[in-house]
Amino acid sequence: MRSRRLGSPIGLEVLDVNLAEPLGDRTLTAIRSLFAENPVLVFRNQDLTAAAIARFARAFGQIVPGVIEKYRHPDVPDVSYLTNVESDGSIDAFGVRRASDWHYDGSFAESPPDCAMLYGIKVPSDGGGTLFADMHTAFLTLPQNLRDRIEDLETINHFGLGPAGREYFDGMSPDRWGAYNPVRRPLVMPHPITGRKLLKFCMIHTAGFAGMTHRDSANFMADLLVQATGDASTYYHAWQPGDLVLWDEHATMHRNAGDFSPEQPRVMLRAMVGGDPAE
Ligand code: OGA
Ligand code: MN
Repeated sequence: MRSRRLGSPIGLEVLDVNLAEPLGDRTLTAIRSLFAENPVLVFRNQDLTAAAIARFARAFGQIVPGVIEKYRHPDVPDVSYLTNVESDGSIDAFGVRRASDWHYDGSFAESPPDCAMLYGIKVPSDGGGTLFADMHTAFLTLPQNLRDRIEDLETINHFGLGPAGREYFDGMSPDRWGAYNPVRRPLVMPHPITGRKLLKFCMIHTAGFAGMTHRDSANFMADLLVQATGDASTYYHAWQPGDLVLWDEHATMHRNAGDFSPEQPRVMLRAMVGGDPAE
């Protein structure tokens, strides 16, 4: 199995793998070990059904179905659509702006997923990419005195109450706002496999930091975001139909780059692995 860097410290293309067929143990072991060192893996030119995506996802753990039932695949509910097209062909406004702020999936849940994957079916010819940021580098590039200061800081995560949360769910039924309790989680966490220290916060659902005022929390999160998302530590995935992108939810944050016109169909399939149900 060959692989090649995609012009960023995170982002590795894996070649010579056909995900439409069940993978042998040797191939899976090789993929898992590449994934431990490279938190964004790209497999191009794949021709995948929802069932094949679910099978590949299960190689990494238990699937967590997406919580929005409307988007679940009718035959394979473990896999959901990520789409800006309604079933009558009109534009799905939530699908257009969905996930367009930096986040990790399920930050509001007790135990968020470990990894997730997207498979491109229809993608805009111009823009429409996905951005990934390396949260280990984000931690390492903070000045030492700041690293020491934040080592014991906790984030408070509550559905939709992050700096970008209100706009994100604008116009959507708020029925889930009351369905989740706030969850406290350390801002600096070791990666469950590599042990590397990571920053963990989310612009959609991280309401603030324990013991800090709302304003100080918002300012500090904005500063952390600038640190974390510089060009040197991000990867922009320019989609082609048939791309499958697998990412580590602990080691990265991600977002829809939001750089496409809503009329252009952007239709993908998505699976998440580990943890509780997640947005
Ligand atoms: C996701 C996600 C980003 C995108 O599926 O979890 O954040 O580019 N997608 O659509
Ligand atoms: Mn996401």
